Amino acid sequence: MRNFASIPAMRRQAQAWRTEGLTIALVPTMGALHEGHAALIRTARRQADKVVASIFVNPIQFGPDEDFVRYPRDMKTDRHLCRAWGVDAVFAPAARAMYANDHSVFVEETALRRTLCGRTRPGHFRGVATVVLKLFNIVAPHTAVFGQKDFQQVAVVQRLVRDLNVPVAIVAVPTVREKDGLAISSRNARLTSEQRRIAPCLWAALQAARRLCRAKPRSSAAVGKTIRKIIRAQGAYSAVEYIETVCPRTLHPVQTVKQGTLIALAVQIGDVRLIDNLVV
Ligand code: PAJ
Repeated sequence: MRNFASIPAMRRQAQAWRTEGLTIALVPTMGALHEGHAALIRTARRQADKVVASIFVNPIQFGPDEDFVRYPRDMKTDRHLCRAWGVDAVFAPAARAMYANDHSVFVEETALRRTLCGRTRPGHFRGVATVVLKLFNIVAPHTAVFGQKDFQQVAVVQRLVRDLNVPVAIVAVPTVREKDGLAISSRNARLTSEQRRIAPCLWAALQAARRLCRAKPRSSAAVGKTIRKIIRAQGAYSAVEYIETVCPRTLHPVQTVKQGTLIALAVQIGDVRLIDNLVV
């Protein structure tokens, strides 16, 4: 496995592969790798000859009160995992290599960011879209792989490549879960054992909502009520940030929840913010 920190060296390697006629799949990550990332890398290996995993905790996608400083960093373990998973190259640039002191160009998606996480995380998707386009420009992948756990992120990236004519195919991978249904996330490690015990209620509540809407379409309000009830039953710890029912393509809110509707939620358990979603 090759390791690159330098942008020109990464670019040279990618161009050399392209000259040999090889295809490249990129898996962008912020490290603290887990089984969710492993699934993306497995998918990437099926998509292309060479797999590049980027590891970069992107400062510009964190808000001032968010967990940028606390975000877990363990490069040694991450490299070890990448090697075990069959990654061909890890690209892990320093922040100062990615952002000049006077960096002043950003990519902004202006419609999809208005709902879900975009409401409470202003600037987040601008930071994501900017870093993703930079990574695409450096690695020049044929394909890039993202997780559906961050449904809105995939939607923003798909819109970015469509609207700016970026020649990269976007592949989305279903959410990988713990045995009890909790969506795997590096943030789960920050849950206390008591919070960890109640955290699967997010997925349980989403599934209950899906069962409710399978029989017949329901109002968004009824779905919200069902989900809230299940989460509240787990105790005073959790604060619901949002429960939204939207069209999965436009992310526009819908009043009636039926087959194909996306139900997405963000819940604060203690001081850990967890998100999850499903399509009915
Ligand atoms: P990160 O949180 O490290 O996630 C990297 C990729 O792994 C994302 O596409 C995310 O959706 C996916 N992922 C995380 N947990 C998953 C799970 N349980 N199942 C399936 N996929 C999962 O998302 C980011 O980093 C950043 O915003 C990034 C795209 C790298 C830009 O900085």
